[in-house]
Amino acid sequence: MKVIYSLVVCLSVFSISTLGKLHNETYTPVVLWHGMGDSCCFSFSIGGLKTKIEDTLPGIHVVSLKIGKNIPEDLENGYFMHPNKQVEKACEIVTSDPLLSNGFNAIGFSQGSQFLRALVQRCSGARVKNLISMGGQHQGVYGLPDCGSLTSKTCDYIRRMLNHAAYYGWVQKILAQATYWHDPLNEDVYRKYSTFLADINNELFLNHTYIKRLSDLNNFVMVKFLNDTVVQPVDTEWFGFYEPGQAEKVYDLRSSRIYQEDRIGLKRLDEQKKLNFISTEGNHLEFNWKWFERNIVDTYLRS
Ligand SMILES: *[C@@H]1O[C@H](CO)[C@@H](O)[C@H](O)[C@H]1NC(C)=O
Ligand SMILES: *[C@@H]1O[C@H](CO)[C@@H](O)[C@H](O)[C@H]1NC(C)=O
Ligand SMILES: *[C@@H]1O[C@H](CO)[C@@H](O)[C@H](O)[C@H]1NC(C)=O
Repeated sequence: MKVIYSLVVCLSVFSISTLGKLHNETYTPVVLWHGMGDSCCFSFSIGGLKTKIEDTLPGIHVVSLKIGKNIPEDLENGYFMHPNKQVEKACEIVTSDPLLSNGFNAIGFSQGSQFLRALVQRCSGARVKNLISMGGQHQGVYGLPDCGSLTSKTCDYIRRMLNHAAYYGWVQKILAQATYWHDPLNEDVYRKYSTFLADINNELFLNHTYIKRLSDLNNFVMVKFLNDTVVQPVDTEWFGFYEPGQAEKVYDLRSSRIYQEDRIGLKRLDEQKKLNFISTEGNHLEFNWKWFERNIVDTYLRS
């Protein structure tokens, strides 16, 4: 009885993934990772974008990462599951999908961008070709003016925690946003106690696996939203940040220590013209399909 049951399950899984849909081998599959306050599958957000990509590139395999068993869990985990754990889960999802085994392009939205970069650097079974960051915070944030879908009371509470206690061990453990909080007035504290971003940016130690894996990308594309009022400073979307000791003057990636010491392989990528900076007018993640099709789909997803 047991044997028959598992056979039926196998067959139905097979028919859904292989017979039910004809996959178009012309196109490299795509993996999407949503931002804070969002989930894999809302039709008005990443779920809708997934459908648009599928309509435009017929037969393409698109996976929108869901961290957790269902949409409410996925949404909640975006705030309260440690990014290290989220990246592990994402690694399990992409490495257990046979259609992704020959490689895929990855598109992150907001914090999903730095999480996907961590996936590139840490997940040895994942073969990412183009990494596309839509409004990601690669040098962290110093300010959280908007908490997405949380109530203003919860948001205020989170904001207070970040301002006063972001680097406390217990806050790092319970609040994902604390792990990419970057306080320019306390650079050393950030480097030592950020349990996610300082690690993937090789701030304290050089992890050569990170360097190797990131510089193996075909392209690393960073999109900055010029009128972003959610991410502070907006320069972090292009890997810039506030100069240490204050929160006004900013430096850009090419004048940063991370780049000049080539601590994670970005200089290498740049020298091979594989680092692409795109900017667009609009607030955080504000873009229309026409823009996305021309700048992202046509340029990076069509082969
Ligand atoms: C796969 O994509 C190519 C290029 O756009 C197209 O010509 C072809 O019809 C597609 N095949 C399927 C099965 O959708
Ligand atoms: C470097 O990163 C890889 C991938 O996450 C990990 O397996 C390894 O333990 C890290 N090395 C050090 C020295 O931390
Ligand atoms: C958006 O920002 C850019 C660059 O700072 C500026 O030139 C433009 O006028 C802004 N657009 C709007 C609608 O505010």
